[in-house]
Amino acid sequence: MSTPNEPAKPSASAGSAAASLSQVTIATPAEHDGDEPSEDTISSRGRKAKRAKEAKDVKQQERDKDGIGPTGRPYREIPDPPPLDRHGPALVMAMCNQKGGVGKTTSTINLGAALAECGRRVLLVDFDPQGALSVGLGIQPHELDQTVYNVIMERSVSITDVIRKTRVDGVDLLPSNIDLSAAEVQLVAEVGREHTLLRVLRPVMNDYDYVLVDCQPSLGLLTVNALTAADGVIIPLECEFFSLRGVALLIDTIEKVQERLNPKLDITGILATMYDPRTLHSKEVMARVVEAFGDTVFDTVINRTVRFPETTVAGEPITTWAPKSAGAAAYRALAREVIAR
Ligand SMILES: Nc1ncnc2c1ncn2[C@@H]1O[C@H](COP(=O)(O)OP(=O)(O)OP(=O)(O)O)[C@@H](O)[C@H]1O
Ligand SMILES: [Mg+2]
Repeated sequence: MSTPNEPAKPSASAGSAAASLSQVTIATPAEHDGDEPSEDTISSRGRKAKRAKEAKDVKQQERDKDGIGPTGRPYREIPDPPPLDRHGPALVMAMCNQKGGVGKTTSTINLGAALAECGRRVLLVDFDPQGALSVGLGIQPHELDQTVYNVIMERSVSITDVIRKTRVDGVDLLPSNIDLSAAEVQLVAEVGREHTLLRVLRPVMNDYDYVLVDCQPSLGLLTVNALTAADGVIIPLECEFFSLRGVALLIDTIEKVQERLNPKLDITGILATMYDPRTLHSKEVMARVVEAFGDTVFDTVINRTVRFPETTVAGEPITTWAPKSAGAAAYRALAREVIAR
């Protein structure tokens, strides 16, 4: 692979909203490494104390239930990830749910970073024209000359020219921006249009252990490309009633891709996100999800916390932004589950 580009530094230009925001509202990790929201979200000391007590109560309740996790099942024994003496060929995972805002991008960044902490080499593919994955890793999509769009549409552009290193050791990024929205239309006329992503990933498959593809919230041709390239699908599912609707359609699409385009495709797991252990609603949705999908549901559940929106502004994963937070611990646990599956 040729020398990857340097990670983009937060620009000092007026266009760099993320950089200026981070100076104003975000506490440093040293100040806030726990799970409590930062000062700007708390109006008084009293509320902070109340939240601390609630969090303690929740932790106590979890301990009291004899190792029963939020899924209502006992935690499964997960072996330590075995060390690797060589890398590749990569397993490709599509992070997929056509519902918007369920934690696909957040999970792609943080699972990627947690896999890298386990010594895995990871390529993150931003396959959403919104470019949120690129932004979440501190890259300004509108400043990019070449993106995944050029790799899939122009045969002369090699994937290794466009992949760039990120600030996270062991994690590389194939970035995207709004240009990718044109690909959906342009690909329709191509021969083997569903296999385009699979074809362009081939030259780097031996450089990585995991390729995580962050899909856009739709079941269009880009998502079908991600599913055709994938060995497994991870479905982030918000712990909210309406998120259960639409999963049937997603599973139906996965089955069609399995049948017609990619027989090796498998559902690696369902990841419950934005879980609030204090609400009955979250618990009820969780119970429904486990009832419907059984063991496919990961034991790891991602709680709702303001730390994740903070990491997006900071442009780095929670594992480096707040390494001791419960959010970081959760994605590390998820990485262990993914390696074990
Ligand atoms: N566990 C969480 N707790 C609280 N907020 C979260 C959590 N996970 C993600 N978020 C926030 O929710 C918003 C949506 O998350 P994210 O962008 O990861 O979802 P998505 O499924 O990729 O969305 P889209 O469908 O638009 O691509 C973001 O602002 C993110 O910071
Ligand atoms: Mg997203």
